[in-house]
Amino acid sequence: MKDGIRWGILGPGSIANQFAKGLQAVAGARLMAVGSRDAGRAATFADQYQVPHRHGSYAALAADPDVDAIYVASPHTGHAEHTQLCLSHGKAVLCEKPFAVNAVQARRMIETARETRTFLMEAMWTRFLPAMTQVRRWLAEGLIGEPRLVTADFGFRAGLHPEGRLLNPALAGGSLLDVGIYTLSLAQMVFQDTPVDVKGVADIGSTGVDEQAAMVLRYPRGRLALLSSAVRTNTIQEARIEGTEGRMVIPQFWHASEVVVTLAGKDPQRHALPFTGTGYNYEAEEVGHCLHAGKRESAVMPLAETLSLMETMDGLRQQWGLTYPCEVPAV
Ligand SMILES: NC(=O)c1ccc[n+]([C@@H]2O[C@H](COP(=O)([O-])OP(=O)(O)OC[C@H]3O[C@@H](n4cnc5c(N)ncnc54)[C@H](OP(=O)(O)O)[C@@H]3O)[C@@H](O)[C@H]2O)c1
Repeated sequence: MKDGIRWGILGPGSIANQFAKGLQAVAGARLMAVGSRDAGRAATFADQYQVPHRHGSYAALAADPDVDAIYVASPHTGHAEHTQLCLSHGKAVLCEKPFAVNAVQARRMIETARETRTFLMEAMWTRFLPAMTQVRRWLAEGLIGEPRLVTADFGFRAGLHPEGRLLNPALAGGSLLDVGIYTLSLAQMVFQDTPVDVKGVADIGSTGVDEQAAMVLRYPRGRLALLSSAVRTNTIQEARIEGTEGRMVIPQFWHASEVVVTLAGKDPQRHALPFTGTGYNYEAEEVGHCLHAGKRESAVMPLAETLSLMETMDGLRQQWGLTYPCEVPAV
């Protein structure tokens, strides 16, 4: 890896384009290969981003000896299988969110990473943006005192396309797994703890998945989170962290570029923290740093936290009676 990380992309769909563009802003990184279920789609993507190796199967990508790390960008239902395929070939994996469909799958993925002694990380790109890095720094410094309440919403209005991945149960669609994960991940990042009580209500739409959901979580020491997600309702997409000494407001928190800090008795201060590239470059940089340091997981997005988030989402779906066709009943 002396010339930098050689990346492969699995599943050249919509988000893979953003990641490929993001990689162009990562010093030393090279997009070496792309793998698609269809050779023609691999070639089209490869031509667009000048990717030297194009593979007409995911297995061929995973076996490519010139690739160090693979970005798994298939739909939710493919994450476990595709991640395990890549790990079994010794490739580091950056797997899109939600990490898996459920905690059973997530546990297996993590076990495979440990068995193969290979790097694995959930692609929660938001955490690596400069604004979020600054938020963590301020929290650690105690700028707003002890954080007591996190409020966050992530909703957008998609068209009613039952076959598309957002609303299709066969692709583990629904607002919770698609965007609710961002709100849950933010709360967990702020509190650095696992919730002890999780309650939620969801509107299950005509395709059988949650079109919107509202969640309340209690963490140790009485800290609370009030979260919502939607794929058929536009919401403001804002996060607020209320502490004992002040508050941070993060507009458009999932692609944050500013934070408004209000300390007790003072005027709000707006801090611009823009990101470069598409923003997906920062998570790729983190993978590069970890690999060069010989680490098999990231301290910013640890696997234990990813697993805990999957367990929280399992618990919410259980409350709603929402299971996906791909799920094997728990034994
Ligand atoms: N981080 C973010 O900001 C962000 C944003 C959007 C989406 N995502 C996540 O990224 C993943 C992909 O989302 P996307 O919007 O890029 O989806 P997409 O446009 O549908 O692309 C997914 C790609 O996966 C491959 N694939 C493998 N099995 C498939 C199947 N059964 N059905 C359809 N496609 C299949 C397809 O490529 P080939 O057939 O050519 O191999 C397809 O192009 C999801 O997990 C999503 O939650 C993340």
